[in-house]
Amino acid sequence: MNEVLLTADKLTKFFASSKTERFCLWHDIDIEISEGESMAICGESGSGKSTLLFALGGLEDVDSGTICFCNQMIYRHSNPHISGISYIFQHYYLIEELSVLENLLIPVRVMGKKVDACVKNWAHCLLLELGLEKFSYQLPKTLSGGERQRVAIGRAFMMNPRLILADEPTGSLDEQTSLRIAQMFFSICQKFKTSFILVTHNENFAMQTNKYYRLEQGELKRCK
Ligand SMILES: Nc1ncnc2c1ncn2[C@@H]1O[C@H](COP(=O)(O)OP(=O)(O)OP(=O)(O)O)[C@@H](O)[C@H]1O
Ligand SMILES: [Mg+2]
Repeated sequence: MNEVLLTADKLTKFFASSKTERFCLWHDIDIEISEGESMAICGESGSGKSTLLFALGGLEDVDSGTICFCNQMIYRHSNPHISGISYIFQHYYLIEELSVLENLLIPVRVMGKKVDACVKNWAHCLLLELGLEKFSYQLPKTLSGGERQRVAIGRAFMMNPRLILADEPTGSLDEQTSLRIAQMFFSICQKFKTSFILVTHNENFAMQTNKYYRLEQGELKRCK
């Protein structure tokens, strides 16, 4: 049996809708994802997918329930950089002043690790894997949307994460590019045995994961 990586138990999230009222975004959400497993979360815009994904990684508070990653409780603020979890976002969030290679090295620098030859070699391996070698020393503004998202994928793999939280990583791309990037992401996750939770509006991508859920009216419903 594969090791359980992340468990979420009875998560509930409220937001203030007026001074006196609060609305429940979702309630009693349970999630379990094991090593090498993949999961997709679909749902209408505003259903709370991003909020849930951020909560799972400790970037957003929950109002009740617990989240545990590799036997470590996750709270917002207490874990600013959870070792073993990486993110990919819809809008890439690359640093425009830095080259493609330097963008990959950001997590290493943020974690206070030394950028030695071994680290640089790993970054070049990832760039090669993602077909980005020739762009290594270019600035992000010289790349297309699909190429920029590949850089963001490379950056996510830089610290050898055990789990990637991906929030609509192909949401800003045209259909063909979106398909190419999603397949590239799935295959690199498989190659490195990296688990992932993918928030997507694309049901075809969701069907390719091990566990496919829909977030509807505050409940997480299993579709596969
Ligand atoms: N800080 C906040 N305060 C109040 N309401 C919020 C806050 N953050 C998000 N919301 C509300 O919570 C709901 C869910 O937002 P969320 O971004 O999680 O949706 P989503 O499912 O990711 O949507 P999309 O598919 O458009 O990205 C929305 O109605 C949003 O307005
Ligand atoms: Mg969202």
